[in-house]
Amino acid sequence: MIQLQNITKSFGTLQVLKGIDLQIGKGEVVSIVGPSGAGKTTLLQIMGTLDTPDTGSVLLDGIDVTRLKDKELARFRNQRLGFVFQFHQLLPEFTALENVCIPALIAGTSTKQATERAKELLDYLNLSERAHHKPAELSGGEKQRIAVARALINNPAIILADEPSGSLDSKNKEELHQLFFDLRDKFGQTFVIVTHDEALSQITDRTIHIKDGMIDNVIGTNGADEAIETENVNEDNAPSA
Ligand SMILES: Nc1ncnc2c1ncn2[C@@H]1O[C@H](COP(=O)(O)OP(=O)(O)OP(=O)(O)O)[C@@H](O)[C@H]1O
Ligand SMILES: [Mg+2]
Repeated sequence: MIQLQNITKSFGTLQVLKGIDLQIGKGEVVSIVGPSGAGKTTLLQIMGTLDTPDTGSVLLDGIDVTRLKDKELARFRNQRLGFVFQFHQLLPEFTALENVCIPALIAGTSTKQATERAKELLDYLNLSERAHHKPAELSGGEKQRIAVARALINNPAIILADEPSGSLDSKNKEELHQLFFDLRDKFGQTFVIVTHDEALSQITDRTIHIKDGMIDNVIGTNGADEAIETENVNEDNAPSA
């Protein structure tokens, strides 16, 4: 699902990534750990097409995204990737439901359909009661779950999360972590999660340790061969625009 080959990246004279090779299979939940400044976020941003590598190739679901033009890339990102950040990044002036709908509306889904799907997701995440509240009226855990719902609305194949539970207390943290595995089991999505949380990295299928811009070691085996059999979540969600 994700194939990185010889990824390097420098900011000025600072070489942040020094040749990363990584393959992640469909339905895998992988964590990326390592000291602050090791290059984890940079790597995730490159994986998520939000940044470009200096060298190397990024294949997502068989597509070389480094070759896509801006418009195609934006479309690919919107439809195939979901992002969850440390601080939810919900839009404050919109309700929870509206926030969840936004990526679907960008993809050209009708308001009616987007709202229906958003309601289903909020229901699944036990957030129906909070649908019409704005972010300021939601708890930290609720906001993160809304952010997950927003990441899921276009049925992306890949979810990328950067310290998604970093701002949560232990109970909300555990619930959010469990949610990732439930979603993988239900929809077969692939998760790549940058985290400083040991409890989370211990339960992921594989833990990639990054140190000084290189893969230091990997714990766990590549689950690509035994990836869970699920229907392709993308096929029944062919873009309507
Ligand atoms: N846009 C940028 N311009 C210049 N330097 C950058 C930029 N982005 C990141 N860096 C530097 O690259 C290095 C790696 O940053 P990165 O954000 O990938 O680290 P990280 O492993 O995610 O750390 P943390 O655990 O603290 O989030 C750091 O030294 C950082 O200061
Ligand atoms: Mg980071």
